[in-house]
This record gives sequence, structure tokens and C-alpha cells, in this order.
Amino acid sequence: MRDIVTEIKDRLDISDVVSQYVQLKRAGHNFKGLCPFHTEKTPSFVVSPEKQICHCFGCNKGGDIFGFVQEVESVTFAEAIKILADRAGLKIEESDKVLKKEGKTEKDEYFVAHELACEFFEKQLLTTNDGKKVLEYLYSRGVKDETIKEFRIGFSPDSYDALYTELLKSGVKKDVLIKSGFVSVKNISSDQIFDKFRMRLMFPIFDSLGRICGFGGRALKADQMPKYLNSPEDVIYSKSKVLYGFSHAKKYIKESNNVVFVEGYFDVILPYQEGVKNIVATSGTALTKEQAKMMSRITKNAVTSFDTDSAGFEATRRAYEILQIEGFNVKTVFAFDKKDPADYVHENGGDAFKEAVTSAKDFISFYMDRLIKDFDINTFDGRKGVMNLLMPFYKVMTPTDRDFYVKELAGKISMGETVLYDEIDSYKLPKDHPARQSFQANSSEESSLKKFEIGVYEIILGIIFGYPHIFGEISSALDEDAFDEDGKNIYKECLNQYNSTRTREGKWDFESEVFAHFKADIGVYVLYVEDKYQDFSDVAIALEVKKLVDKMKQSRRNNFLKEVQAKIKEAEKSEDKDLLLKLLQEQQILLSK
Ligand code: UTP
Ligand code: MN
Repeated sequence: MRDIVTEIKDRLDISDVVSQYVQLKRAGHNFKGLCPFHTEKTPSFVVSPEKQICHCFGCNKGGDIFGFVQEVESVTFAEAIKILADRAGLKIEESDKVLKKEGKTEKDEYFVAHELACEFFEKQLLTTNDGKKVLEYLYSRGVKDETIKEFRIGFSPDSYDALYTELLKSGVKKDVLIKSGFVSVKNISSDQIFDKFRMRLMFPIFDSLGRICGFGGRALKADQMPKYLNSPEDVIYSKSKVLYGFSHAKKYIKESNNVVFVEGYFDVILPYQEGVKNIVATSGTALTKEQAKMMSRITKNAVTSFDTDSAGFEATRRAYEILQIEGFNVKTVFAFDKKDPADYVHENGGDAFKEAVTSAKDFISFYMDRLIKDFDINTFDGRKGVMNLLMPFYKVMTPTDRDFYVKELAGKISMGETVLYDEIDSYKLPKDHPARQSFQANSSEESSLKKFEIGVYEIILGIIFGYPHIFGEISSALDEDAFDEDGKNIYKECLNQYNSTRTREGKWDFESEVFAHFKADIGVYVLYVEDKYQDFSDVAIALEVKKLVDKMKQSRRNNFLKEVQAKIKEAEKSEDKDLLLKLLQEQQILLSK
């Protein structure tokens, strides 16, 4: 049987896979788009259907379909196979073999533990007496059975060891239970270990692929603290990356090209149940850049609907700051008068919430009106206060948006537009503003993506392989010393192959072990030159090679010169006259070149 990796490669095209995440435009043989791995305004992410690779010449990340999926979904190679096998319509059994061969990873153990815990909590909710009371509580808040099932809501009983005993029995390691935050250790030697989630309504938290990676447990008794007890971060759970509800909502976010951000678990499940399915929660913490970045791959339209208290207002503003940088259109719902979306849906129904989302105001207009209400704009201080609080947003806006909102504010607080522009020009963003902090790319530890630096000799190799028919013409300008060690080997093999396999039309054979060894690197170099020299004629490219070679020789000469000059200094110190003379002659030759 053919192996699954080859099978997947045969069935899937890289441009199809990538275009699930990136809007691609044709560029010659290739496609181009905005890089999904770093924030950029002009596209430097190139996809080659011919070579079945992609590469970003901005952040230098790239690879084949597997590497791409690993990076973009933050998953391991084995997980990328699973995702792609799915897409290719291959049976899971086949891909499972590869997964087995890859072996169970540490992460798998954690996922299994969370899955087992979830099953335990679900059973407690549905089959115990205490569970029945909790079920009644869920019904009273408007949650239906189908929703409980779909979001796998459960109940942790009032016991210090029920979960611990159950999971140990199922073979979960003590260490995994401790690190996942299921249990606490008072004294490990005397086995004083106890369950942490007791008497709580349990919301499993799913990662972007729908695997359970943590829990949020809501208090069920009045004096129970904290209100929500959350899993700690571990190898499978990173708070800053996960959005609650994402795996459920993903499809609907894509379909509607819009996402609703809310704060809490109930704020996701009730609107979802009532038909607003493109919804995710930040789970009570500030929206992070990583979350915004992840979301920006499927939509750039967001509506925030946070609690209508001052904390919610602050969260709305901060979410906008983050989303603005990622290029989102952001609208705001802030009209539920001390109710959160869950309560609002429960009282007014899903359609009312849908209507609120559809008619949401864009954030800046909302914020401006809110400030104008909060300040007394009949006073100088009031007007200045409004203006100051808007400054950070003006500073980061696109020129079109700025033009629009400057006009709007100028009208509303009767201030000259030019004055506003002057203020914006002289305003400096505070140091801790998200727009001033460089974006930290997802550090997915197992990524197989390669990093390349494109230098002159890489470009020349790219030209040789991208335009092999002009090799004869350009080889006169080249010599092997122009390359580094690897480059030298590749270049020598080019000469070999060219001399031994060249046809009358100037075609020559790439079938060679040396080339095979450097295949991935060469692919990227060719991609680079194809992109860069798209509109060049053969003559122009040959000219370019001459220029590049000159540049390369020049830089090599400069390096030598520096070395010699350093040696001269030493020879002067040690008063080694013979050596000095020799070095000075060398310097002379280099200078005259
Ligand atoms: P809320 O206090 O608004 O809770 O916190 P809620 O989700 O609306 O729950 P109900 O409707 O009162 O039952 C919003 C979110 O903040 C996080 C949780 O994710 C919660 O859903 N949170 C809140 C915590 O993580 N810890 C807490 O102690 C409180
Ligand atoms: Mn709430």
C-alpha cells in the first residue's frame, strides 16, 4: 500500500489548501497573498502549484502542505496528516497507521485525560441525583438538552476523589492529572491528593480542532469561590491562543464572514443555541493578538458584545485596539443595559440578539458618542478629553478611515479638521500600546517549517534552476568560488549535468542525488526568482546575473580585505617584517581589483 503522505500529496493541491486560510491572487506561474504567519500590508507569501510549496519572503517561513498546516494550525506533523487526510477524503484508518507509527506524544496523553474527564463529568450530570439538580439549573437558564450534548457540559460532584480515582483506574498518569490541574497535591508521599473541581458546572474548553484541552468550572453554591475555576496552562492549553467555542463556530464564521466576540461560556452557548452560531468567547480575559491573528485568517469582520459594565467597556476598547491592528472591521453591541448576551437571549430570544448584532454600530462611532456623553463638550476641557481618548485610534487608522472620523468628530465637537490633523501628527502612541509591540508569532515548538535567508548566491542558484536554458550563457560569468560550501557542490553538479546531458535546445537533466538532497532549498530559491523576475526577458535575466556576480565578488573581496587588514595590524604589533610585507602586497592586489 502506498503511504498516506504520498497519497495526500497526490490528492491535494497546495493552492487549494492555502486558500482556505489566505486570499490568493495569481502572479505568473504562482499565487501570492498576505502571509498568514506574520502581519504585513503587501503580500510576500508565494505559493507554487508546480512545486507544491509555499514560502513567505517577508518572515522566511514556508514549506509543503504538511509544514504549512502544522504552522497555521499549530499542530504536530501527525495531526497535520490527520487534517489533510480528512480533506483528501482518505479514511482515518489509513492515516491512523501513520499516527501510530509516529507514536503517542506527550500531548496525546493529556488529550486522553481531558476526554476521559469530560465523559466522567457528562455522566455525573445525567445520571446522579445532584446532577439532576444541576440539569434543572441549566434548563432554568434556557439551556436545552441538545446544547448540553453539543458543548459536552458536565458536572463535577461534591467529592474529593471521584475524578481522581476514576481517571487513575483508566490508566491516566498521576503526573498528567496534577499538571492538567484536575487534582491538587497536599502531600504526594502520603498520597494526599484531591480533586480540584468539586460541585461545579463543567464547561470543557475545545482547541481549534475540537479536542478538549481544558475546563472552566462554574460555582453552583452561593459562597463558592472563585465563580469560575479554570484549568491551568499546560502542554495542550494556552489561554492566549484558545477562544471558547471556536471549533463549533468556525464553519459559521466562514459562512457569514463575520464573528461575534463575547465574554463568557453562557454567552456563547445560548446565542449559538438560538441561531447566532458564529460566536466565540474570550473567557473573561482580554482578547489577545494571537486570538485575533487566528481569527483574521477566516474573517476580518468582528462584532464585540461584552458585558455592559465598565469592565466590559474597557474590554471593548482593548479588543478594538488589537483587532484594528489585524485589519478587522469592528462593530460594537453595547445596549443590553446591565445584561450580558446570555441573559439578553434568554429574555428576548435569538432573533433580538441577531438584530442587535446586525445593526451594531462601528466601534469608533460608538466610542465617540459614548465619550461625548461622558464629557461635557461645552467646555474646553471636555472637548480636549474626548479628543485625547480618541487619539490612539486615529493614529493607527487607515487614511480613509481617518478622513471619515476626523470629519465626524470635528462636526460633533465643533473643532477644526486641520487642528485635529495637527494633533494626530504630533501625538505619540504610548509605549505599551499593542501597535508598538512587535507581533510575537505563534511559537509552535514542533513546526517543521524551514527558515531561509535569501542572499545573492541563493538568487543565482534560483536563476540556474528556474531558467536552465540560459545556464550556458550565464555560466561564463560564474565561478565556483563565488558560492559557499553547499552552493559550491550544487554549482559543480550543475556544470556536470549541463556538460553531460545537455540537448540541442539547451535542456539538461536535473535527476541527480546532489540536487535531490537540496531539493527543498532550491525550490524556495526558484520561487523567489520566479516572483522577482516575472516580467524579465532572458536577456534581462542574464544581465541581472552578471550584476549579481559582480556584487558577490565585490563583497567577497571586501571580506578578504578586512581579514588581511586585521592581519596587518597584528603583524605590525608583533613586528614580523616578512609577514607584514607579504600582507601588504596582498592588500595591494585586492585594492587594485
Ligand atoms: P461572568 O462573571 O460574566 O460570568 O464572567 P458568565 O459567563 O456571565 O456566567 P453567568 O452567566 O454569570 O453564570 C465571564 C467569563 O469570565 C470568566 C469565565 O470565562 C466567564 O464565562 N471568568 C469569570 C473566570 O474565568 N473566572 C471568574 O471567576 C469569573
Ligand atoms: Mn456574564
